[in-house]
Parts: sequence; C-alpha cells; structure tokens
Amino acid sequence: MCGIVGYIGTREAYPIIIEGLKRLEYRGYDSAGIALYDGKDLKVSKTKGKVVDLEERSEKEITKHGNVGIGHTRWATHGVPNDVNSHPHISNSGELVIIHNGIIENYESLKKELISRGYTFKSDTDTEVLINLIEDVKRQENVKLGKAVQIALNQVIGAYAIAVFDKNKPEEVVIARLGSPLAIGVGKDDFFIASDASPFLEYTKDAIYLEDEEMAIIRLHKGIKIRKIKDDSLVDPYVQKLQINLEQIEKGGFDHFMLKEIHEQPKAITDTYRGRLLRQEAIIKMAGVEDNMKKFLNADRIIIVACGTSWHAGLVAEYIFEDLARVPVEVEYASEFRYRNPIITEKDVLIAISQSGETADTLAAIKLAKSKGAFVFGVCNVVGSSIARETHAGAYTHAGPEIGVASTKAFTTQITVLTLIALRLARAKGTISSTDFRHHLLELEMIPKKVEEALKSDAHIRKISEIYKEAPNMLYLGRGYNFPVALEGALKLKEISYIHAEGYPAAEMKHGPIALIDENMPIIVIATKKGHYEKVVSNIQEIKSRKGKIIGIVTEGDVQVKELADHVIEVPETLESLSPLLTTIPLQLLSYHIAVMLGKNVDQPRNLAKSVTVE
Ligand code: F6R
Repeated sequence: MCGIVGYIGTREAYPIIIEGLKRLEYRGYDSAGIALYDGKDLKVSKTKGKVVDLEERSEKEITKHGNVGIGHTRWATHGVPNDVNSHPHISNSGELVIIHNGIIENYESLKKELISRGYTFKSDTDTEVLINLIEDVKRQENVKLGKAVQIALNQVIGAYAIAVFDKNKPEEVVIARLGSPLAIGVGKDDFFIASDASPFLEYTKDAIYLEDEEMAIIRLHKGIKIRKIKDDSLVDPYVQKLQINLEQIEKGGFDHFMLKEIHEQPKAITDTYRGRLLRQEAIIKMAGVEDNMKKFLNADRIIIVACGTSWHAGLVAEYIFEDLARVPVEVEYASEFRYRNPIITEKDVLIAISQSGETADTLAAIKLAKSKGAFVFGVCNVVGSSIARETHAGAYTHAGPEIGVASTKAFTTQITVLTLIALRLARAKGTISSTDFRHHLLELEMIPKKVEEALKSDAHIRKISEIYKEAPNMLYLGRGYNFPVALEGALKLKEISYIHAEGYPAAEMKHGPIALIDENMPIIVIATKKGHYEKVVSNIQEIKSRKGKIIGIVTEGDVQVKELADHVIEVPETLESLSPLLTTIPLQLLSYHIAVMLGKNVDQPRNLAKSVTVE
C-alpha cells in the first residue's frame, strides 16, 4: 500500500518522480504528493486524488526544478484522503521531509509525548508524528539525520518504508524498511528509490533490495551505506541485475492493464510451466519441491494460506492435491489463520500463495507457521518479494508484472504451479498411474492454446455484458473444481464494477440464495461437461423455473445447457481438474466489459490497492 519514489542525482527529479508514481499507482491512488529541493529551498505540492491531479496542482504551486526529491501515492490508513493528510509531511521546523508506506501503531502515545514538548500537528497521520519524532531526536541528541532516523525507528512499533531528507543537507536521503518493500536503483551518477523497480527500469537495471530492519543512507557522489536499524551493524549492499524490461510494465496497445493481462494468460501459463513440465520425459522438475520432497511426503496435511484471489487459487489447489496426491488440505484466509490459535506441527507443510509477495496477513501467517516448526513453501509472482524471502522454499509463477489491481493472470498461473506440485507429489506417492500422469501433462501443455480459444469469445461476451451491465446483483454458481471459480468470478465483478455479486456452490443455492432469484437476477452457472454436469443441469432447471436469467459457461458443443440458458459461453474441453484455467477466462472478460461500460476505473478500482501491506 502506498507507492514511494525518490531521486538523488544530476538529472531533473520531477519527471522521474511523477512518471515513477504513475507506475506505482497500483499501490494506492487516493492522494499524491512530491517534495523537491530546488537548489535553494524545499518545495512541496500535494493533493487528494491521483498523480494527474498532482501534476496539475504542482504546475501552479512549485517550480518543478531540482535534482533531489521524493514522491508518494497514498492508500489511506490514518486520516481520510485529503490534501493535508497527503504525503510528503514536513517537520515543525520546516527542515525535514518524509514519505511513508505502512502504519506506526504507537503513533498516539508518541504524538502525546511530542505535543507535551510543544510540537504541533496539521494532519491526522501517523507519518507526521514520525517526522517530528525524528526531528526531536535529531535536536535532543544532536546527531545527524541518519542516526536520528535510526533512533526514532527503534522507538516505533509498526511497519514502514520511509524516505527522508533534510533541506539543509539535500545531498543525502535516508531510507528504511520494516514490512514494506523498498528498492534502490543504482545509476551512474545517481540513485533512485522506489517501492518496486518499475520507476527506475529505464534508467538502470542495477538494484538493491533493502531487507526488513535495514536502513540506507544514500549520498550523492559518495554512495550508499546500509545498516541494521537495531544494532547499527553495517551490511554489504548486494546489487542485483533486474530481468524485467519496460515493455512488460506498459499497456502494449490495450486500453487497460487488466485487458492486457487477461490476454497475456496463454503466454504467462506457458512461462509458468516452461522448464518444469517435461512431457517427452514424462517428468515434472521443480527444484523447490525436489529439494524438499521428504517434507512434502512426510506431511500429515498441507495448509494453504492466502487472501482474495490467491485464496481462490488455494481452494482450487485443495481439490487438486486431495484428488491427485491424496493428501489432506486445509485452505485458510491468512488473516483468520493467525488470530485463532491454529494447531500447527512440525509435520505440517504450509503453502503461502501471493501474487505480490507482500501481503501483510499472509506474511504474518508464514511467520506464525515457521515459529511452530512447519515447513513453509511460497508460491509468489514477484521475484525477491518479502514472502519469497521469508519462506523455506518456493516456486515462482513467472506471470510477469501484474499491474491491473484485479488479479487475472496471477490466478491462472498460481493454479498452474499448484497443479504441477500436486502432480509431482502424486507421482512420488504413487497415487497417480503413469498413463494418467502423462495425460495430465499433455492436457496441461495444451491449456495455453485452449485459453487462446476461450479468449475468442470476447465479442460475444461484450454483447452479454451490454444486456446485464445495469443489474444490481449477480449470482455465480459452480460445483467441485468450479466452485472456487464462481467465487473468483463474483469477486472480479464486484471489485471493478461495484455490482454486488456472490459466488456459491451450485447445490448450496437451495439452502438460501434461491430466494433471491426472480426475473431480474442474472446467474452465471459454470456447467462444463466433466464437472458434475447432470447435477448442475438440474440446478439450472431450478433457476429456470424461478425465471432467473441464466448465463452458462459450457464445454464446446454443449446441447443441454444451451436449451435452458438465456446465453452460453463456450470454452474448450479439458480435464476436470484443469477446467478452472479455462472457465475463469469468460468471467474475467465479463467483469472487464461490464466495468468499462459502466465507466469505472478498471485498473484502479476505488478503495483498493494491488499490494496490501497492512493487516
Ligand atoms: C483481487 C485481488 C486481491 C488479491 C489479494 C491478495 O483481484 O487482486 O484479492 O488477490 O489482495 O494479494 P496477493 O496475491 O498479492 O497476496
């Protein structure tokens, strides 16, 4: 949550920071701000709204000149989104300026203490408390900025990624992290600071990722010093070469990132299984699983923790693991898991699924499981993310950057990775025959082509969207493997179109939701050939008798549902266990088109952020 960008060097900082903030808007977009040192003084401009609003405002408010600066795009935690609560925040003396991503939990007591010493506050934020605490320490202890930041952070409880500078010493920027990501781009004569590498990719591919509880003092022409915040020990900076390029984080001719990412799925799924699924040799090769095979084979059960869409991928995985590898699986909301004193033993394997690799609740669940001795395996998309680093082992999804806030390709690639793991375990345990195993590999290999086929229904789905775009509610039904897809379809619709939608197991409809059905209720039913087809057809009959409008997601060539439903959308045939990879595609497109038709901001839906780094 919240995007941070900073620059110190010889170029103009303003365009670098503004363009960088636009790339980080997926992290939050309810207000934005920038602070520049223009060679003489500190210039700050900030506003409620998006980065384009900031551009407009800063045009009138500041000279956009200077070689040092920090900028912020906010997802509000403390204090409503308004101009005053926007970052950057300035200390009482007007000398120190800060941007912050995270939450200072003990800010109220710190604030009281500072007020008793004469400090005043303009905003409701915890961040303004932090910058004044730093100022107070700097004065009281008579220390330099870096030391003051370190002492102040040792008094703070919470999570943060911060960037601070002093207008009297603008050749130095101090940054620190605990729980929120922070990267430094190392240029020839300059340094970039950002929540992820996207703001500086066009300038440098050399990056240093700060670890939790580390701070860095970045000095123009002098380099970087990294220290542990707690014990002051020096850390050797590890500079890594980034593999992503600019095209991957641009829209590439699509109207929205979400649409681009939906269409990227054939490639993303191929990238996910490339080098892992070796059909000719009839093997699956995944180092993270291979190296820890004993842990997996000895596990009494697998616990999957995740949030949102990743949790839905976990539910699909529950079916796959139990079905193929015959191992008991529990799927937990990461946020609930840690607050109910769960029973975890050394014989448990915990799989944490996260696109961003930064989700605070998932991270906390991992730490809890580790503390109880469980083996923790991560399935993440963002390379080098906190979850990827915190887990004992893992497998990346290799989906490429996902920028649209609504998760699409992350979901299908997570399912792909989890299917590979389940198949590998099934083979090792002997719970799948060699013929079946080969068949699965063949079918999985064909999924990208079939996703391409499914994407061809786009124009047809657009027409259906036109008919139902004004519906106030929608129901999504599915059984077995496609029950989690129904949940995911409903989540996609509500998060980007703000239409209320619910997903249910199709048979559960009779136990309540059926009361909602009348001639105005559109119901999307996933009724593919191999997933309890006859039973779902009966459910469709029940809806039909109550005059509900039925949109069936069916297997190519389907006859029965076609006769009953108001509309059908076909997907190619595949194995039941792989069907979520196809049935989810029309649901993504349906949500996308409805949201566009309603004029909603598809890539940045209200109140949401891509990376949820607060609990
Ligand atoms: C929905 C969506 C969210 C995320 C959830 C977990 O489209 O994107 O529900 O799936 O916030 O995020 P990650 O996977 O990054 O842990």
